[in-house]
Amino acid sequence: MSVVNQLLNLQKSINEYALLSSEELDERIAAAKSKLEDRLVILGHHYQRDDVIQYADHRGDSLQLARIAAVLKDTEYIVFCGVHFMAETTDILTSDRQTVILPDMNAGCSMADMADDQEVEECWEFVTKRFGDSIIPVTYVNSTAAIKAFVGKHGGLTITSSNAEKVFAHALQAKQRILFLPDQHLGRNTGVKFGIPLNEMCVYDPKEMEIEYPHGEGDPRIILWKGHCSVHMKFEPRHVHEVRSKYPGIRVLVHPECMYETVQLADEHGSTDFIIKTVRKAPAGTKWAIGTEHNLVNRLAQEHPEQLIVSLNEMVCPCLTMNRIDRPHLLWSLENLLAGSPRNVIRVDSATTEWARVAIDRMLHIS
Ligand code: 13P
Ligand code: SF4
Repeated sequence: MSVVNQLLNLQKSINEYALLSSEELDERIAAAKSKLEDRLVILGHHYQRDDVIQYADHRGDSLQLARIAAVLKDTEYIVFCGVHFMAETTDILTSDRQTVILPDMNAGCSMADMADDQEVEECWEFVTKRFGDSIIPVTYVNSTAAIKAFVGKHGGLTITSSNAEKVFAHALQAKQRILFLPDQHLGRNTGVKFGIPLNEMCVYDPKEMEIEYPHGEGDPRIILWKGHCSVHMKFEPRHVHEVRSKYPGIRVLVHPECMYETVQLADEHGSTDFIIKTVRKAPAGTKWAIGTEHNLVNRLAQEHPEQLIVSLNEMVCPCLTMNRIDRPHLLWSLENLLAGSPRNVIRVDSATTEWARVAIDRMLHIS
């Protein structure tokens, strides 16, 4: 069958699943899960929709899910409800005997797409020419396997929002400067926590292939890749002022992918896990405006009716790619596993896996 016909058939069968009633989807997902028994584990990121995350055997942030993947030695199928780079990380951390499935291949991450391997090679040449052998590359896990492999090969490691300080401490002991990929905001906000002045952080623009000094030209300790999360960029300083005047006494809690100016105005900032734990331990009556992905903020609001929880920007949309994973795609993936024909398999080639694993293992070792 031609590739076009295969794609048309694939589309046709997914469209059929999209027509199923909510009850039928729930019944068939539950039935498929129980037939697959312990051959299957479903991992779900906290940003997933409620109707999907309810089926996750383990839910977590990207660091927690990577840790779980690293110890799933006997599971034949791992269905990852999250985005592409997370499924890649899972494949890297599991053996060739195991199969990782992403229910919808369109579940990418626009931030991860902002750094491609060719551009990163060019950047490395540029910065090492300018600053010599003084740089360690560090990549946020929100990056492709190829970028993780590049970082592993050049003595660096991966980072997540929940271990950012530990990884920075390690990196700054190893080298004078960090090349931070691909999220400039997590890099800048973590640098500030380390007391690094803004004028000692520059930004590398991969399109212009040049360095910018948005806060003055000091000797850079951190070279930030010019990338961002389009969801977290929607939380602006004006939203902090607006929410404080609308809800007096409200506390503002944001993810470090938000821009520096917003983070500085917030009462607290931290990873997805930090946000969840902070809300869980707050007393009844606490008011929160949270700057992170919409599905998670809504879930926290439902789970904590004793607190007032709103989004820092009530007009913000959920992460569109995280939301690509829905029950029809999940059921389609599970029933294909039952039929013995896994679809949407995520397989990272062995050369990339080898070096990407080095970068991830270095991170897991110090986290
Ligand atoms: P965590 O590392 O907090 O899971 O975040 C992943 C992510 O995609 C944030 O936008
Ligand atoms: Fe990527 Fe942002 Fe979505 Fe996270 S919230 S998956 S960084 S686009």
